[in-house]
Amino acid sequence: MSAVDLEALQADGLRAYAEAQTLDALDAAKNFYVGRRGALTSVQRSLGSLPENERRDLGARVNAARAALAQAESQRRHVLEEERDRVVLAAEAVDVTLPPRVPKLGSLHPVQETMEAMVDVFVGLGYRVATGPEVESDWFNFEALNYQPDHPARSLMDTIYVRAPGAEADQQGVTDLLLRTHTSPVQARTMLAQPPPVYIVAPGRVYRADIADATHLPAFHQIEGLAIDTDLTMADLRGTLVELVHALLGDVPMRFRPHHFPFTEPSAELDIWLDGRWVELLGCGMVHPNVLRACGYDPEEVQGFAFGIGPERLAMRRHGISDMRLFVESDLRFLSAFPA
Ligand code: DAH
Repeated sequence: MSAVDLEALQADGLRAYAEAQTLDALDAAKNFYVGRRGALTSVQRSLGSLPENERRDLGARVNAARAALAQAESQRRHVLEEERDRVVLAAEAVDVTLPPRVPKLGSLHPVQETMEAMVDVFVGLGYRVATGPEVESDWFNFEALNYQPDHPARSLMDTIYVRAPGAEADQQGVTDLLLRTHTSPVQARTMLAQPPPVYIVAPGRVYRADIADATHLPAFHQIEGLAIDTDLTMADLRGTLVELVHALLGDVPMRFRPHHFPFTEPSAELDIWLDGRWVELLGCGMVHPNVLRACGYDPEEVQGFAFGIGPERLAMRRHGISDMRLFVESDLRFLSAFPA
């Protein structure tokens, strides 16, 4: 190789380093000129075959070229590294003056919130919360509550059966299993499990073979109430329910209207005056002696009252909601209107 060629090689190398726009490009250029198979390296290897005087001369030039390239490379590397650090620092910069991003908090579903407000009223009156299973036997859901065998509520039209009436008994001897149509079976479960007196409320989910519309859902909620003691009268029932309505809806007019339920006698519905008309709020009555007997209580010694309230209806009244289906559609625009 001539001195001129070597100068050209060095000049090419210096230009390639200067033009490298990234550290990777610089590494590639470095490898091309001074790497193990680089252009300058192969010149250096060829030195051995030269005569002594030429070798010394060319060797000194190659060393000078290598030194010039090494210096240019390290200067360029320094510049490119600074550039890279500047970009990374800018990308990772944290503006500590920005307002914090607060995670969105959920809130209680309006039906749940209404149920809890109702339960709170009764707990304040000394009631205990009781529960029962959603898959219930025909005996607790109907039989113990004095429903006659041919009562229309038992028909497949209203009741969702898990095991149809008349099916073979299982190992526990249970024949009919159903999704409870009301929370009233918790009355029977509670009385069978403890002696009087009883003061319980039982909030929970209930099921009916209904199509969802503005005022019905196939799965909805109830709060059952049961009070059994030695001298309870309808006046106590009335006073208790007045307490509830005042706590939740304020001083609205109410009336008791005669009604019929198999498990209470007498029975009534409680209406409240809202938006210029009477609106049915709940069913109630004095517990039927047959129910007390079925649950092992003596109707000569104890008596009491029961009531069943639909919290969906009450939540609709409280919040001015006109379609019950909104409660189950999980539309966040609706749900977020009820902050915690
Ligand atoms: N279980 C009734 C229903 O689902 C509601 C009800 C009415 C419950 C009167 C009661 C009661 O405890 O006394 O329609």
